[in-house]
Amino acid sequence: MNADPSPTVFVLNGVNLGTLGKRRPEVYGTLTLDDIEILLRSEFPGVNFEFRQTDYEGEMVGFIREAAKGDGLLINPGAWTHYAYALHDALETVPVPKVEVHLSNVHARETWRRHSVVTPAVSAVVAGMREWGYVAATRYVLEQRRG
Ligand code: DQA
Repeated sequence: MNADPSPTVFVLNGVNLGTLGKRRPEVYGTLTLDDIEILLRSEFPGVNFEFRQTDYEGEMVGFIREAAKGDGLLINPGAWTHYAYALHDALETVPVPKVEVHLSNVHARETWRRHSVVTPAVSAVVAGMREWGYVAATRYVLEQRRG
């Protein structure tokens, strides 16, 4: 728990999420990742966001470890969701509220997207709410902090 009155929330975006806006807008929406960051900062002006994206799994593991110093963590692992056990193992060591976020409804798509190897290591999952999933997940981690 961070003693600073302004909470820190890590928002970690994985592989291919840097192409949002151009990538399959009918599935993921038209907002870019920058737009989602702007939305979060405007919805929660009192929150210190550490907003990150990487296409490198090892770098993501480093971000997850770093998030231990914050008050909550949102992670959209992209396709890593479905097979990256190293992300699961990194997440289970970080003792803050953690939410797995998916822009699309992964349960209504290809069968292989229905399984997440990350879910057992997080507190909650949001899928199919597009950018509003990030907003809802932030609200949730802030509520957890209040206890
Ligand atoms: C995603 C869903 C994943 O299956 C996919 O590989 C992504 C994005 C989502 O936000 O809906 O890259 O995590």
